[in-house]
Amino acid sequence: MNVWRGAAEGRFQSFAVPRRENQTILDVVTEIQREQDATLSYRFACRVGMCGSCAMVVNGKPRWTCRTRVAAVANGNALTIEPLRNLTVIKDLTVDMAEFFDKWARAKGYFEPGDKPPEDFAVVKPDTTERIAANAGIECIGCGVCYSACDVVEWEKDYLGPAALNRAWTLVNDVRDQGNDSRLKAVSQKGGCHSCHTHMSCTSYCPKHIAPTYAIAGLKRASVRRRP
Ligand code: SF4
Ligand code: SF4
Ligand code: FES
Repeated sequence: MNVWRGAAEGRFQSFAVPRRENQTILDVVTEIQREQDATLSYRFACRVGMCGSCAMVVNGKPRWTCRTRVAAVANGNALTIEPLRNLTVIKDLTVDMAEFFDKWARAKGYFEPGDKPPEDFAVVKPDTTERIAANAGIECIGCGVCYSACDVVEWEKDYLGPAALNRAWTLVNDVRDQGNDSRLKAVSQKGGCHSCHTHMSCTSYCPKHIAPTYAIAGLKRASVRRRP
């Protein structure tokens, strides 16, 4: 298999790792680091699809590697493992996620309780339109797979990207949140939701089966309805 080494100016290095039952891509990378080259850099934490830190490009497609079995993606016995695209490579398979999370902040992807939040818990009925819309995107683990898959991120560096916009949409639909005026303003500026070309790559690759494309369509409608 070929594994990316170095930073942007790196090269592929060839390794041989035995096939094992139920082996994941993360298992392969870990075996290389433990048994063959301790300097290989990559990132993971939970190994069970919760933390979002293990994403890489495997045989050309962005994936969460702890939940991706070798048997499902190997081309014969061939694997090519690269860092996520659209983010600066720090070393080998490790990318700098700062730009990704900075864009969450720019999209106002954080809960805004207002000046006087109520003291008691809010009651939000599960069958309301807003709750259903928020639910659709709430399980995002911030893995960056969608960001790596998005062509618009590649050619428009200011573009907030599918994950940040998906997060903004969950908050637009959170009836407790008081920040929608500034949030809709933030996501409708240059590099915001209107830059999305509805290519659906984010939605195709999201390991949590979230559809950022639909969230972004919701933001487009809501931002057009918003009064300036
Ligand atoms: S649907 Fe929009 S955000 Fe998703 S990959 Fe395509 S252009 Fe990017
Ligand atoms: S929307 Fe999906 S692919 Fe994008 S960061 Fe969240 S979990 Fe990952
Ligand atoms: S290691 Fe946490 S999602 Fe893969």
